[in-house]
Amino acid sequence: MASAPGARILVLNGPNLNLLGTREPEIYGSQTLSDVEDMVHAKAADLGLSVDFRQSNDEGELVTWIQNARADMDAIIINGAAYTHSSVAILDALLAFEGPVIEVHLSNIFQREAFRHHSYVSQAADGVICGLGAKGYLLALDALADKVAAS
Ligand code: DQA
Repeated sequence: MASAPGARILVLNGPNLNLLGTREPEIYGSQTLSDVEDMVHAKAADLGLSVDFRQSNDEGELVTWIQNARADMDAIIINGAAYTHSSVAILDALLAFEGPVIEVHLSNIFQREAFRHHSYVSQAADGVICGLGAKGYLLALDALADKVAAS
């Protein structure tokens, strides 16, 4: 698989995603965040990427991690969870990041309440994947492997 060896991908998960597996499983499925993390690490190893997988319930902490990524990360995958729909601060931090950004949601946010149809994150994202469950993270890694290899 063609990809820049060791390209570093920051995978960020926003509030309440730590509850995956027990939180509204009819919407978010039965996999835990730790299951998702294992899948992401396995896929990244196949693609020759290195991944730093994180979750926070704190908007400021997510902003700080995105800021820090400017120094040592090549790309970001972000499921901002509820902050997707509210956080100009996360948008601004992502706009200051120079590498590719892929937005992921487990659920199809466009099939849900109207307030979930708007995403601030999308304004900074090169691509958006939603409605495919945890597979969305793996598809995002595929897309980034191609992007990083092409850059
Ligand atoms: C979510 C969708 C958001 O609207 C919601 O607030 C979440 C999870 C998803 O992955 O489907 O917490 O980002």
